[in-house]
Amino acid sequence: MGRDVIVACDFASKEDTLNFLDKFTDKKPFVKIGMELFYAEGPDIVKEIKSRGHKIFLDLKLHDIPNTVKKAMAVLSRLDVDICNLHAAGATDMMKAALEGLTRADGSRPLLIAVTQLTSTDQTSMERDLLIKEPIDKVVMHYALTAKNAGLDGVVCSPLEAQKVHDTCGKEFLTVTPGVRFADGDIGDQKRVMTPEQAKKIGSDYIVVGRPITAASDPVAAYNRCCEEFIG
Ligand code: C5P
Repeated sequence: MGRDVIVACDFASKEDTLNFLDKFTDKKPFVKIGMELFYAEGPDIVKEIKSRGHKIFLDLKLHDIPNTVKKAMAVLSRLDVDICNLHAAGATDMMKAALEGLTRADGSRPLLIAVTQLTSTDQTSMERDLLIKEPIDKVVMHYALTAKNAGLDGVVCSPLEAQKVHDTCGKEFLTVTPGVRFADGDIGDQKRVMTPEQAKKIGSDYIVVGRPITAASDPVAAYNRCCEEFIG
């Protein structure tokens, strides 16, 4: 898979999601399904969106003992998703078990990417609550490298970290980056943002874009603009 725009379908129900996706009659966007929609609607929402021809990033961020994650990943793999994810904080054995669970009988599997430190965690909360005293940038890069060494395909990271992740883990290691806004758009609650064009320049492999597309007056036009700026 090459560079692509992933639309974050942060809707609360199947009805809202399908009404939104119905607008896309030409190119079917790659979509991200998160916890809210998955827990509300269950695996059927994944099957429905998949059957409409969309690729799916299932953003459930698994984090448990290796055996549990392995079995859960086997279930997700059977849903035929294209990307799924976990917390690198689950450590190497959990990440390797996840890969085993994802791998189908024919050897194929969805891409597996890791969350490093959540962007809601800062230096203060990391030191105070997790007792991790190293600088957060170093921790993020260490988690990325640990994920790479466990055999994962990439990480979710800020566009501002994408370059450094590639320098640390290699060009082939995927960077999937939220926090994208149009130059003339609202930034909302995101703090550090980049335009699709900037994200392309710094080497993001996938951008995850929610409200600039889902809340636009013309979502298809906003999606097409995003693709033009990011993919070219
Ligand atoms: O609407 P917006 O473009 O801000 O949506 C970004 C999407 O990426 C949301 O689904 C959000 O949960 C997700 N995300 C994020 N920042 C992270 C990780 C995930 O914005 N660090």
